[in-house]
Amino acid sequence: YNVTWDISQAEKGGYDHFMIKEIFEQPKALRDTISPRITKDGSIKLDNINITKEYIKNINKIYIVACGTAYHAGIVGKSLIEKYAKIPVLTDVASEFRYNNPFIDEKTLMIVVSQSGETADTLAALRLAKEKGARTLALCNVVGSSIAREADDVFYTWAGPEIAVASTKAYTTQVAAFIIIALYLGKLNENISDSEYNTILKEVIKLPEKVDYILNDIFKVKDIASNMMNQDDIFFIGRGIDYNVAMEGSLKLKEVSYIHSEAMAAGELKHGTLALIEEGTPVIALATQDNLYDKMISNIREVKARGGYIIAVSKEGNTSIEKSADKVIYIPDTMDDIIGILSIIPLQLISYYVALGKNCDVDKPRNLAKSVTVE
Ligand code: G6P
Repeated sequence: YNVTWDISQAEKGGYDHFMIKEIFEQPKALRDTISPRITKDGSIKLDNINITKEYIKNINKIYIVACGTAYHAGIVGKSLIEKYAKIPVLTDVASEFRYNNPFIDEKTLMIVVSQSGETADTLAALRLAKEKGARTLALCNVVGSSIAREADDVFYTWAGPEIAVASTKAYTTQVAAFIIIALYLGKLNENISDSEYNTILKEVIKLPEKVDYILNDIFKVKDIASNMMNQDDIFFIGRGIDYNVAMEGSLKLKEVSYIHSEAMAAGELKHGTLALIEEGTPVIALATQDNLYDKMISNIREVKARGGYIIAVSKEGNTSIEKSADKVIYIPDTMDDIIGILSIIPLQLISYYVALGKNCDVDKPRNLAKSVTVE
């Protein structure tokens, strides 16, 4: 009788790769990030964050700066903060921000987002903002990292260690962090009604179990992925938050499967990218936003008319989409503002299974590093 095992296999807890393990850890990561911030009476409490009503009423803008996946969480944050707190938000990738003469002063709140807390460009952006007198808030996953130490306030995402180079649970917890922060600022700023605040928070609490529900039935995404391995180009389209999520879905796919991919704002397609659609070109179309649903259906039809093969992601109940799409992945219903945490899950899974099918090094894609600590 002989037991063979190796330490890396043990760390993966029975999964083949860290990426898939971390995808499946998302319900727990979300629960750990969300629950400590919500009190029994249903309001938000942020320990160690000293942003006061007085302060927030006196700022004139917020900057959100980050790199890669963290930046994609940041652009969702922009939509939510502008909607709930009614403060203008500018976003930029850190490598551009540093050299772009940004408008930063004492009336700016600078939010940086970083899983590792060590990304060189993001750290430099944080330092630049501090030098110019901004107050700084970091959304960070690694306790005691450089960015966490240097920022005035830190909102920790409690995703636990993320080992796979392609970020998954860090992204969903960063988006959750932004939902909470946006609601918190909206309340401080008195720009969100109590009833809206309460309804959204109740839905936020249900997100982890909805992610679980998606992860319990991945047969369809595996099947879709199995037909994508030989493609050269795959496009992602969406509007509003769906567009933000499309950008993250596209990044996931290219980084782990090496398939060229682009995300487009669906309404922008006809200004150039539509020329690339040929017979059979796969287009992943996100259509989760009620107020944009009809517009998305028209965009899907435009692509379909040029021969595109449409894989739609929509909410359970939106069955009318089956008339326009070739395949539909349904996700559970929730409020449109927070649905990005659900719609990204099938996209992460597709990337993983396409990469697996192509025999790519899923956890350590070529040319990439988990933490980019040089410029
Ligand atoms: C690297 C990683 C990405 C990550 C980005 C920002 O490029 O491969 O997954 O999104 O850095 O990292 P950070 O640790 O600052 O979130």
